[in-house]
Order: sequence, then structure tokens, then C-alpha cells
Amino acid sequence: MDYAGVDGRRTDGTAAGDDEAVVEPPAAFSDRAVANDPELYEAFAEEGPEAWRRAADLLDWETDYETVLDDDDPPFYEWFPDGRLNAAANCVDRHLDERRNQLAIRWFGKRGERRSYTYLDLHREVNALAAGLRELGVEEDDVVTLYLPMIPELPIAMLACARIGAPHNVVFAGLSAEALATRIDAADSSYLVTCDGYYRREDAFNQKSKADNARLRADIDLSATVVVDRLGDALDVPLSDDEHEYESIVEAHDGETVEPVARDATDLLFVMYTSGTTGRPKGVEHATGGYLSHVAWTTRNVLDVRPDDTYWCAADIGWITGHSYGVYGPLSVGTTSVLYEGSPDYPDRDRVWDLIERNAVSVFYTSPTAIRSFMKWGAEYPDAHDLSSIRLLGTVGESITPKAWRWYREHVGGGEAPIVDTWWQTETGAISLATLPGITPMKPGKVGPPLPGIDARVVDEDGEPVDPGEPGYLTIGAPWPGMLRGLREGDERYRREYWLEGEDGWRYRTGDGATVDEDGYVSILGRVDDVINVRTHRFNTAELESAIVGADGVTEAAVVGDDDGKIVAYVTTRGDVDPDEPLRDAIGEGLARAVGDVARPDRVVFTPDLPKTRSGKIMRRLLEDIARGDEFGDVSALRNPEVVGEIESAVREE
Ligand code: WTA
Repeated sequence: MDYAGVDGRRTDGTAAGDDEAVVEPPAAFSDRAVANDPELYEAFAEEGPEAWRRAADLLDWETDYETVLDDDDPPFYEWFPDGRLNAAANCVDRHLDERRNQLAIRWFGKRGERRSYTYLDLHREVNALAAGLRELGVEEDDVVTLYLPMIPELPIAMLACARIGAPHNVVFAGLSAEALATRIDAADSSYLVTCDGYYRREDAFNQKSKADNARLRADIDLSATVVVDRLGDALDVPLSDDEHEYESIVEAHDGETVEPVARDATDLLFVMYTSGTTGRPKGVEHATGGYLSHVAWTTRNVLDVRPDDTYWCAADIGWITGHSYGVYGPLSVGTTSVLYEGSPDYPDRDRVWDLIERNAVSVFYTSPTAIRSFMKWGAEYPDAHDLSSIRLLGTVGESITPKAWRWYREHVGGGEAPIVDTWWQTETGAISLATLPGITPMKPGKVGPPLPGIDARVVDEDGEPVDPGEPGYLTIGAPWPGMLRGLREGDERYRREYWLEGEDGWRYRTGDGATVDEDGYVSILGRVDDVINVRTHRFNTAELESAIVGADGVTEAAVVGDDDGKIVAYVTTRGDVDPDEPLRDAIGEGLARAVGDVARPDRVVFTPDLPKTRSGKIMRRLLEDIARGDEFGDVSALRNPEVVGEIESAVREE
């Protein structure tokens, strides 16, 4: 087997002695938990793929499936291939009988606005928009790009697309015009839904002008654009003939119903672009039936969400977590979700706790990056609020340290709530490794064992399972329902990017390094490829570095993430160029233009050289250790070891 090198030098931050810490699921929680039968693990092990009927049977099928898995042509797997269903009907229509007047979405805007949608409201607006999109020419299988901030129109547009069988392609609102154009072009999309703008703290920010700039690119040819009025009169945004007001569309079609299109389970529900092993983002394709089954099953069994909960997934819908656990998961199980547009520290640092108290949120799902900020701001903020409604906490996106885990449990979970540390990826579609909160004991700082039915293993270069504590590569041996069905870039890229054929069959490569302990609990060491996870976004280092090198006078760049989820850029300049403030700004601007404001580096460290191996490869791990202030190992393998001291002092001075 062929893997990029993993050195296992870094650990997940688990302090000595923590290894043994085991926290049992609280009995009061287990008694009521959706999943509380330990035999579930054995049942999945015995039944194989058939076990996933449990997940598919949480959905309403237009045509029942008979086959669970078609694995005749690995690594191209088809889940529930003869079944037909509609994702929007599963997220909206089927709840109308029992809970049409129950809240589906409680939205809180940046300026203190509030809007609530019952399932009936949602049904009405999704239908009206679906009718409007049809009228604009959107047909089944046409890809619709959605470029919207965290406003209710985003999930509504996703569902309207799903209703008419048009796959959506959500582009995170903070990405640049150029990044948007690349994704519209790569997805072959002729329709766009965007908005006039949105607020960033006090300021109105023009989103439409970014969409306009994307359209200027020669390869972009949109048939129609729909524009949501988020700002009212705050910005004057004129519309041209092929641009349509969202509000007028919804008003014109108000009260119409559009029959949900029955899709094959294997038909495309959406595409989501994410960073991979090359500078060009790749389009991960998710199929309708397997994805929705896995997402619904994990929303219930891992996040323990029920219809009478108020649940809050704080992730942006522009990324996979928001797709799976901000939209499709909660709506498919018929619960009430909080949708929050603002920042966690505006107007004050207690905003998150205020929203939990105000809405009596029972299940809260966020990232370790956010938890680190909460810790830094201080326990007095959560402590000042009544958070007793919290029953379960979740984290995703990176490893959480035992210290942060305990803080989260103590100050947000009232010392009682179980925490599920959930590992998964854009490509896995849904949670793949995590404890089942009513069954499986927790180990702070460790993700936990694979979920029932997920054949995850940590293996060495030869694909052999590693011994407990030894670093290796996290792989998944058997297909799972939420898995990507392929890449937009084609079968060959899909196979090459993710799959290895070994003696025991095909293995999916996650790109993560990991260790596993005697009890089968997995700890994630971080990526082994050139992807970095910062601020809960995934970037390819080459994608960022090529934008930096585009600044005049820059010769080389290396980008790493530090402990706080910040982006640190190490930059070398031409001899005749002063590494000064204007250059720093130009680098930030270049990244904002190429990728988006989210990619602006938090620190730019000018250095005379970058540490390189004898073969000329930049030692990014070493730079990461320096940025994090960690100890680093032997540097004798470097071609230029003397540079390490210079970089360290540059970091200190900066
Ligand atoms: C990382 C986000 C440690 C991992 C859902 C993975 C994690 C990448 C965890 C996927 C976790 C995700 N502990 N690391 N619980 N969850 N990761 O595609 O490196 O944005 O490969 O999906 O995040 O990021 P993505």
C-alpha cells in the first residue's frame, strides 16, 4: 500500500495519565437514550450491510428498496439502489400530519431579528420556491449553486432544489468571487441563488457584488440568478433582467404545491466542494438514499435528537456539518432547530449561552475551535446562564483536548451531560466514529470506537492493523451508507484519491493519521496529506500558498494551522523586497481574493528561508510545531537546519 508519510510525532494533546480516564454514560441519560441497547454493536457485526436497514427504515420511501448494497463493482458502491425517495418530502411533507404546527427552524439574525418557521410554513415556502425555480427553467439534475449566509432562505433553497430533483452546490458565503466562479464552473451549474448582502457586525457587506464578479469570468454562463433581499434598504443592489427577487418569486407562487420528484436512491442529492490533495478543490457527490439514511440514523442514535428537542448545530451550512446536522439530519427526524446567523461574541461573549437559555436547547453541537474561544473568554459567561436544558453535547472538526472536554462538560453540560466527540468528513457524509452516548463509555480526548457498521481501522504502510498506541493511517474497510458516491472530477480521480486495493479488499483512505488503544478507541493525530483544518474549514496548503506567492516580491510560502485554529503563513521574499506591512496586507488581500476572507492569515512570519528536506520538500510539520510553540524533534534530516533558529526568533519577534 502506498501512503504519504506519517511520523506520529504529534499527539492529540492527551496529557500523561489521561489515557486511563473513562467516563461512563450517566444512567439518567442512558435510560432515555434513543440508542441504549449494547447489542446494537453485535447486531451490526453479524448482519453486515443488511443492518443498515435500520437507518433506511427511518425514512419514507416512494418505492421500497429491496437491495441494501450493490458492491459488484468496487469501489463504486450503490446503497439501496432499487429504492426511490425524495429528500425534501422526508424533511418536510411527512411531518405535516403529526406536527405541522411544530417549529422547524428558529432563526436569529445578526441584528437581533428573529423568524420562526413551523413545518407547515416550511412546506409552503419550499413549494413556492420549487415552483419558481421550475418556472425559471430548472429541471431535474440541473445543478443549482447556492451562495447564501446563515439565513432561513438557505435551507429552504436546498429543500426546494431537492424537491424538484435538482442537486444543490452550496458555496460558503465567505468564499471569494473567484472561488465561487471556480465552483460554478466545475459543477456545470447554470443557476445561482444569492443575496444582496449581509451584516458583519455593524457593517452591511455586499455579497451580490462578489456574485457579479464571478459572473464576469468568461467560463461562467448563468441562465438565471435569484437574489434574496437580506439587507432591505441598507445597500442599493440593482438587478438585471436575468436576476429575480426571491421574495417576488415566493409571493407569486405562494400556495402552489409541487409534487416531490421521486429520485433513485443513487441519484445525486448535492455536490460539495472541499480541499483535497491538490490545489484544486474537488466536488464530493452525495447520493440521496444512503446519505439521508446515515444522517438520519446518526442524528437519532449519536446526537440523540428527538422531535420534542430543541437542537442547535452551530456549524455554517456552507460546509458539510451544516448540511448533514444543520439541515438534513434535524429536519428528517422532525425536530426544532436553532439557526444563528451571528457571531458567538456579538453583541457580547455570552451570546451562545443566551441563545441556549432562551430556546431551552437540549442538544448542542459545535467545534473544538469554538470551545477554545469560549474557554478563553471565561467560564463566567456560561455560568451566568441557566443551561440546565442541555442533555447532550457534541463536537466535530478536530481533536478536543481532555482539558477542553472537561471544561465543556462542566460549564455547558452542567457536569452531567455526555459528550460525543464525532469524527467524520465531507466524504463520509455522516458521523462515522463516535461513542453512542447512552451505551459507550467516553474517554476525554479520544474520539471513540467506530460506530456499529463502520469498519474503521488504523493500519500501517502495508495495510496491517497497528498495535495499540502506534501511529498509523485511519482507513475504512467496508462501504457505509453516507459515503460519497463519487467525485465530480470523475471515476479515476475518485479511485486514485481515496481507494487502495489490498489483499483483504478495498480500503477507503481518510487522509488522517491516528492511534488506537487497547479498547479500540481512536485518537486522531491530524491530516497526513496537505490539507489543514483551520477555523473548522478545510484548506489545501497549495491552494493558499499559490495565492500568497502571487503577491509581488514573495518567493516561497508555507502555511500551517496553529493551536487556536489560526492560519500562520511563513513567507520568504526576494532580496530587494522589504518584508513590511504593505506586503503583509497584499498577502492578506491576495488570499481574500483567491479564496475568501476566511483564508486571510492571522500571522505572516517573514523568514529568510523555509526548512526543507534534502529532496526539497518543505517540512510543514516542523513549522506547525514552531507555530504552536511545541517541542520539535530531530532536525538533522534538513538540508538547512540553521534556518530553524532564525524562524523561531522571527516567530517570537512578530
Ligand atoms: C478532522 C468535517 C479529530 C479530520 C465533518 C477529518 C476530526 C477532517 C474530527 C474532515 C474529530 C473531523 N477529531 N479530527 N472528532 N472530526 N476531524 O471534511 O482531519 O470539513 O479528516 O468534515 O476534519 O473535515 P471536513
